[in-house]
Amino acid sequence: MPPRYAEVLKYQYINHMKRTLITTALPYANGPVHIGHLAGVYVPADIYARYLRLQGRECLLIGGSDEHGVPITIKARNEGVTPQDIVDRYHKIIKDSFEEFGISFDVYGRTTSDTHRRVASDFFRRLYDKGEFVEKTSEQLYDEEAGQFLADRYVTGTCPHCGNEHAYGDQCEACGTSLNATDLINPKSAITGSVPVMRETKHYYLPLDKWQPALEKWILEEHKEWKPNVYGQCKSWLDMGLQPRAVSRDLDWGIPVPVEGAEGKVLYVWFDAPIGYISNTIDLVGEKEADKWWKDPETRMLHFIGKDNIVFHCIVFPAMLMADGSFNLPDNVPANEFLNLEDDKISTSRNWAVWLHEYLRDFPGKQDVLRYVLTANAPETKDNNFTWKDFQARNNNELVAILGNFVNRALVLDHKYFEGKVPACGPLQDIDIKAFEEIKEAVVAMTDDLENFKFREALRQAMNVARIGNKYLADCEPWKLWKTDPARVATILNVALQICANLAVVFEPFTPFMAEDLRKTLGIDCLSWDMAGRTDILAAGSQLGEAHLLFEKIDDAPIEAQVQKLLDTKKQNELKAWTPEPVKADCSFEDFEKVDIRVGKVLECSKVKKSKKLLQFLIEDGMEKRTILSGIALSYPDPEVLVGKEICFIANFPPRKMMGIESQGMILSAVNPDGTLTVVGPTAEVQPGAQVG
Ligand code: MF3
Ligand code: ZN
Repeated sequence: MPPRYAEVLKYQYINHMKRTLITTALPYANGPVHIGHLAGVYVPADIYARYLRLQGRECLLIGGSDEHGVPITIKARNEGVTPQDIVDRYHKIIKDSFEEFGISFDVYGRTTSDTHRRVASDFFRRLYDKGEFVEKTSEQLYDEEAGQFLADRYVTGTCPHCGNEHAYGDQCEACGTSLNATDLINPKSAITGSVPVMRETKHYYLPLDKWQPALEKWILEEHKEWKPNVYGQCKSWLDMGLQPRAVSRDLDWGIPVPVEGAEGKVLYVWFDAPIGYISNTIDLVGEKEADKWWKDPETRMLHFIGKDNIVFHCIVFPAMLMADGSFNLPDNVPANEFLNLEDDKISTSRNWAVWLHEYLRDFPGKQDVLRYVLTANAPETKDNNFTWKDFQARNNNELVAILGNFVNRALVLDHKYFEGKVPACGPLQDIDIKAFEEIKEAVVAMTDDLENFKFREALRQAMNVARIGNKYLADCEPWKLWKTDPARVATILNVALQICANLAVVFEPFTPFMAEDLRKTLGIDCLSWDMAGRTDILAAGSQLGEAHLLFEKIDDAPIEAQVQKLLDTKKQNELKAWTPEPVKADCSFEDFEKVDIRVGKVLECSKVKKSKKLLQFLIEDGMEKRTILSGIALSYPDPEVLVGKEICFIANFPPRKMMGIESQGMILSAVNPDGTLTVVGPTAEVQPGAQVG
C-alpha cells in the first residue's frame, strides 16, 4: 500500500531539512561511455537530482572522470601516446555525451586537476600522520623485460576462484571476485606477455581489518534499508573478514605518494578516485562551502554506482573516511546490477556496446527516448537486457502512442475549439473527479518510489498519468459534444490540459527535453513537484503554443541497421577469437591412401523431410551416380545453390542408412569460425569421378 498524499508530503518535509550530496561513479577516461553506464549510474542519479530540485530540496550532483589507473596507461602504450593524451581525449568525449543526454551535473571534474592532486595528496598525508597506514614489504610481480612492477590490470592469469583464464590482477570479470595480482595462477604480463618474477617492494596498506567492527555496526545494523544486492555484497565481504589493502602502487602514472621514502610510488587509483568526489565539490563551491556538503551531519550523501563498485564505496572509501574521522559516511548506496545488450554482456574490448556518441549521431534529438527505455528496463534488482526491438516498441507504443498522442490530441482540440487558449473550467463531473483522483494516486505512488530509488516503477506511474489522460479524452469524446454543449467541452479540455501540465512535471526527471518543450508549449514559468496532482496549474485564458509531436515513430530501417551492426561485430569478434584446430596425430601415407576421395558434380540437392540437419545429394560420380546424405542443412538454408557445383566426397565409406535413406559416402566441407560448414570442391572444372590425392 503506498502512503497517502498527506503522509508523502510530511515525509518530503522531513527530508527537506537536509541537503543531499549525490555522487556518481567517475568513469575511467580510457574509452567512450555506453548505455550500460547511462542505465546503471547516470540516468538514475540524474532522475533523483532532478526530482529533488523540483521539490526545491538543496542538492548537488557530482561527476567527473577517473583519469588514473592501469587501463589508461595500457591504452596509451597500445596507441603509442601519453596517458595524458588519452585522458584529454576521452574526458571530452564522455563529458560531451553526458551533457547531450541532459545529465545535469553541477560539476564534472577530472582527477588530473590541480585541486584533486592537492586534495588527494593531503588526504593521504593526514592519514599517514595519524599513523593510519601499515607499511609492509612483500614480494610483488615484476616484469623484467619492461622493467616495472605489475599490478592490477597489468597482469592477467587464471582466477583462483572460478578458473577463468582471462582474469585481471585486480578482478575476475567472470565471477566478480576482487583479486590481488599475486592471487592469479599462471600470471602473465599484459605489457610484454612475459612471465613475471617476484621482487620485493614496500607499500602502504590501509588496515581494513581495524575498521571491521565499525563497518559491521554501520552497515549491518544501521543500514538494513540498503538494497538487498548492496547489503548482501557488504555482508559477504564482512563475513569473509577484511584484510589490509595496499593503497600505493609502483607506477609512473598517478598522484605521487606524498611521504619520504616513497619515490616512484603513486596512490592506488581506488584510493584517489573517490576522493575526486571531494575535490570536485571543492572546485564547485570552494573549500569552506565544501565542508557543509561533506561534514555537516545535516547533509546526507548518496553514491550512485554499478555493482562492480560496491566494495569500494561501501567498505574501502568509508574506511578511509572513518580513518580521517571528520567526514560523513554515505547514507545510501543505491547500486545497480548490469545491463546486457541483446542477451550478451556489454564489453568494451569486444565492442559489444551502444556507444553514446554513436547513438547521438544515429538518433539525433532522441536522447529522451534512450533515457526512457533505459529507465523502463533499469537493472535495479537484477541484470537486465537492452534490445533494439524493445527500444523501438517502447518508443512507438508508449512514448508516441500514449504520451505523445494524448498531449497532441489535447492541444489540437484546444486550438480547434478555443484558439489555443486555456478554456475556463465549469462544474466538475464524476468522470473528471475520478481522473484527477487516479492521477493523485499515481503521484503519491511515484513520490514514494522516487524516494526509495525505484525509478522504473516511478516511470511506470508517470506513464499511467498519460494513460489516464488518453482514456479520459476517449471516454468524454468532446468532439461529439461541441455542437450541443460547448461549455462541457471547455471543462473537458481544461481538465485534459491540466493533465498535460501534470505530465510536464512528472516526466521532467525522466525525459527532461520533452518536459521542457511541453512546459514552454503550455506557458508554465517553472515546474515544481508540488504541482503534481494539482488540477489548477494552468490559468483559464492563458495562451498555449502550437500543437506538435513530442515523439516520432521509429521505423524498422534504423533499428535493423543497429541490429546488423551488432551482428557484424559478433562476426568480427568470432573471427578475431578464432584459431585453427590443432593438427591431428601423424597419419602414414598408407593410411591416407586407404581413403578414396573423388570429385563429383551435384545434380540434385534438397532437404531431407523431417530432418533439421540433413541434406540429400544426388552426385554425378562418373560411374552410376550416387546418393549422399550430409548434415549441413543449417548452413544451407537454400540447398538449391549447390546444384551444378563440383564438390569432393569420400567414395569408399561403407553405405549407411539415415532417415530410411542410404548414404553412399561423405561430402567434404570446411568448418567456419561461427560453426557453419562450407562444402569444398576443385578450383577449376574437373571430370566427375576424378580421384583426389
Ligand atoms: N573508474 C571506476 C570504474 O569505472 C569508478 C570510480 S568511482 C570513484 O569502475 F569513486 F572511484 F570515483
Ligand atoms: Zn573468477
